[in-house]
Formats: sequence, structure tokens, C-alpha cells
Amino acid sequence: MKYKELIEVARNAKNYSYSPYSKFRVGAAVLTKAGKIYSGCNIENSSYSLTICAERTALFKAISVGEREFVAIVISTDEKDFITPCGACRQVISDLAGNIEIILTNGSGKIKKFRTNDLLPHPFTPPNLE
Ligand code: THU
Repeated sequence: MKYKELIEVARNAKNYSYSPYSKFRVGAAVLTKAGKIYSGCNIENSSYSLTICAERTALFKAISVGEREFVAIVISTDEKDFITPCGACRQVISDLAGNIEIILTNGSGKIKKFRTNDLLPHPFTPPNLE
């Protein structure tokens, strides 16, 4: 099953997390409609606000090589609680991937599923600019 692999890729991506300031490791993996997977991790910066979250790293990697259609994103952390994407990432996911499945995995490997619209109701979307 593809989601099993997606979850594994997100968990593995956490190992590349560059988080010397927060020590909070996050991994993400996004699945395209065609079945390709792109991973991402959080990358922090000494000028803290320039930090990028794992979700945006994964999506930007995919977009940067021409991907445009997505079905799911997995977010993986070491925490016992389920970590949901920050507000900025919710907007980016909504804008670039639409109402996809957002799968959260905690440190013990449990999962919780949402859709973008559950986490970001009434989004501002590209058609609003038409
Ligand atoms: N972070 C993510 O990568 N994704 C989230 O969903 C929440 C927060 C990162 C940003 C920062 O490097 C660290 O976690 C602490 O906020």
C-alpha cells in the first residue's frame, strides 16, 4: 500500500532535519497523483524567521521539478502528541495541493488523518485572484 511507503519516507526524512535551535525534528513526504513521492525536512536558520517547515520543503521540491497534482502529505515527528501543520504550511498546502489528505504520525507510529479543508476552512485560494 502506497501510504505505508509514504509514512516510511516521511519518518526517514526526519533524520535529515536541520534543527540545531529547536531540536524539533520534522519529516514530511508528499504523494503525487502519478504515485511519486517527494520528501522534506525542516531547515532552520540562525535568523530564526527564515526557517522552513518540512511540509513546505517537500511540496516545494515537488513543485520545483514540475509536479502539480497531489493526493496526500504525511508529517512525522518524534512527539507523543500529533503535530499539525503550522498556519503558513496549511495555506501553502491548500494553495499548491488543494484539499488533499493530511496524515499525521506521532513518535510511536500512530496515525491520524485529516483533509486540508478540515485544518484550513474557508481558505484563500488562487481562484480568488481571478
Ligand atoms: N515545524 C515543521 O517543520 N512543521 C510543522 O508542522 C511544525 C513546525 C518545524 C519548524 C521549526 O524548525 C521547528 O519545527 C519548531 O517550530
